[in-house]
Amino acid sequence: MQPDTTNLKKHFDALTNWWEGAGVQVDRAQFQRMLNALNKAQAGASGPQTASSATQPARSNIKPSGFEAAKALAANIQSLDQLRDALTRFDGCELKETANTTVIADGQADADIMVIGEGPGRDEDMQGKPFVGRAGQLLDRMLASIGLSREENVYITNVNFWRPPGNRNPSDEELALCRPFVDKHISLIKPKLIIAAGAVSAKALLDTSDGIMRLRGKKFEFALPGQSETIPLYPILHPAYLLRRPAEKARAWADLLTISSALDTLGIAPQKRP
Ligand code: URA
Repeated sequence: MQPDTTNLKKHFDALTNWWEGAGVQVDRAQFQRMLNALNKAQAGASGPQTASSATQPARSNIKPSGFEAAKALAANIQSLDQLRDALTRFDGCELKETANTTVIADGQADADIMVIGEGPGRDEDMQGKPFVGRAGQLLDRMLASIGLSREENVYITNVNFWRPPGNRNPSDEELALCRPFVDKHISLIKPKLIIAAGAVSAKALLDTSDGIMRLRGKKFEFALPGQSETIPLYPILHPAYLLRRPAEKARAWADLLTISSALDTLGIAPQKRP
């Protein structure tokens, strides 16, 4: 009897969520590869292929065109609803195969300030919203310290929309696949200031290999493709890093003050806490 791969996947996901909840890293991609191989073997064993399925390239052979597909799809998007719809349908990125959800955004779509993180972790993948785990709670406190919040004046997203297996960083290729959607996202929100949370986000948005310690605390000008107008961008230390290295909070606080005075200068300073 052949194994039921749909059921196998269900059990694997349940078990994996359990292990990851306990802090154990599980290689979801490896399991997915095994499942793909099993599916392929079962398809082969179930008789001769039809002419069309026999000539279909293997799924992994289709992926290299993902970037072109992403660019074409993103070019036609004209609203946040369309962006959500396109990302939910887009299957050019393999991360989607192991993620539970496509995590797109939270906060106020008319906000002047856009926070862009690196990508969903376990909690975000479960809840479908960015920055809802421990790091997200710290981010909320950091923003609140300069009068910002996702409930009032901030829009939050990431440079990658699917949780990488075992919480690894997204690869350059995965980030490149997301990039047309990220640029479109920024052009739809039209922020007056961007905060890039963490090294992965800052490096991807600024297209630099400089480390976050060189980037943080400085102002950069972010340009959308084909646009001469730029948006001020401030890289900050990632809140997950600050949870691991609390002594770095002093640097983070200094960077928040820099952002706060930039908001003053831009005339978009929110109400400060007393
Ligand atoms: N870290 C990020 O960079 N983004 C999230 O959404 C969650 C954690």
